[in-house]
Amino acid sequence: MSYDVIVIGTGPGGYVCAIKAAQLGLKTAVIEKRATYGGTCLNIGCIPSKALLHASEVYAHTAHGIAELGVEVAAPKLNLAKMMAHKDAVVKSNVDGVQFLFKKNKIDAFQGTGKVVAAGKVSVTNDKGEVTTLETKNIVIATGSDVAGIPGVKVDIDEKVIVSSTGGIALSKVPEKMVVVGGGVIGLELGSVWSRLGAKVTVVEYLDNILGGMDGEVSKQFQRMLAKQGMEFHLGAKVTGVEKAGKGAKVTFEPVKGGDKTVLDADVVLVATGRKPYTEGLGLAEAGVVLDNRGRVEIDHHYRTNVAGIYAIGDVVKGPMLAHKAEDEGVALAEILAGQAGHVNYDVIPGVVYTQPEVASVGKTEEELKAAGTAYKAGKFPFTANGRARAMLATDGFVKVLADKDTDRVLGVHIIGYGAGELIHEAAVLMEFGGSSEDLGRTCHAHPTMSEAVKEAALATFFKPIHM
Ligand code: NAI
Repeated sequence: MSYDVIVIGTGPGGYVCAIKAAQLGLKTAVIEKRATYGGTCLNIGCIPSKALLHASEVYAHTAHGIAELGVEVAAPKLNLAKMMAHKDAVVKSNVDGVQFLFKKNKIDAFQGTGKVVAAGKVSVTNDKGEVTTLETKNIVIATGSDVAGIPGVKVDIDEKVIVSSTGGIALSKVPEKMVVVGGGVIGLELGSVWSRLGAKVTVVEYLDNILGGMDGEVSKQFQRMLAKQGMEFHLGAKVTGVEKAGKGAKVTFEPVKGGDKTVLDADVVLVATGRKPYTEGLGLAEAGVVLDNRGRVEIDHHYRTNVAGIYAIGDVVKGPMLAHKAEDEGVALAEILAGQAGHVNYDVIPGVVYTQPEVASVGKTEEELKAAGTAYKAGKFPFTANGRARAMLATDGFVKVLADKDTDRVLGVHIIGYGAGELIHEAAVLMEFGGSSEDLGRTCHAHPTMSEAVKEAALATFFKPIHM
């Protein structure tokens, strides 16, 4: 069998690339070794975690948030098995959706482990060990990433007591004490889930702030809000050991700056210290494909590896490990393979942390602008001054707009607050079109909406806000 494009891996990068390639008239196949399509994101990542984040938030909100609105109910009762069944059903509908889209777009899907034999040749080994060899003009590596573990620490992740995100979305009971190693996105999202459901969650983070790389002001306020929700933090703390002890585990950490060790007991330890590109068993070395010093497939601006006809996108290449970044690369690469001008604007890739409140950003942080020596101006608007936020008792947080001091072009927008993950996109569209804070501030926004806080922050950037 011969194809124009074979995509190895059907996560958001791979499946989107395949669909776009088929839409553009290329004969396309995908290879997937999991029993279902959609990769980490749909099966064990973004989608199931959002199902649990939503359900646990409804639980916590019902318990603590609605009496003030005049809605009085008896204390909610948790049915964890049902919550997990909801999560599983959401995963199923999404992975089935990908299968439907493959059929609709006449994409051949092969179940099994894909391996690059050489440029133009890919083998698929199924569960029974049967090998099929396929020919193709182009190979796309979209194999994603895997749990990295704790650098320099041997940890036995059994996905029951010591869990990665995979076990962290499938616990059969709420732990009394959970220790989260790593105050990044996974740690704070899944830590929030279990904290809302009743666990005492302690986060141990190496850096001096949570969500390293996030705007510093946002990160500080976010930590205060999570602490108010009951999470405990040890920052500037390096985890040096995670071991099973009895039915639970012990986590040992020490101050990064030096000092005494601390040992914490936990029923469950969530290891959330990052992910690494997944290239195992792909035959890349044999095919002569070069990896960079961090194990990522090295590519040029057109997603080409050093071997003609072999391309790579998503978590397996450089850049943020985000589903939407992988999707956009998939589209751009399919366009390039179809002879069009595919392109991704890496300056405008939003990032969202789906906690409560949500944290969202696009573009540069103040710290990045300072480090680059860019002259900028900042405008801020708090949700406490937004009518809709007051009506919903969702006044925690603010919007911050950063714009070039001379040209007023918006360089970054950072939001912490209810629905931030949706609000951020007007900033993304504005930035994609090279808009200024004045453009944003002069755009009519419906009243009363949370989005007005974005407009007011823009007004504050180029002149003055009205409602403050
Ligand atoms: P991360 O890189 O976001 O955070 C890992 C944290 O662990 C870092 O803050 C690091 O300083 C800390 N750490 C490392 N070694 C440590 C040690 N020995 N002791 C204490 N702390 C230590 O990685 P995370 O949260 O595992 O996520 C993996 C990837 O998945 C990220 O690239 C993330 O962007 C992506 N992701 C994105 C989501 C979203 O966009 N909402 C949701 C979940 C994951």
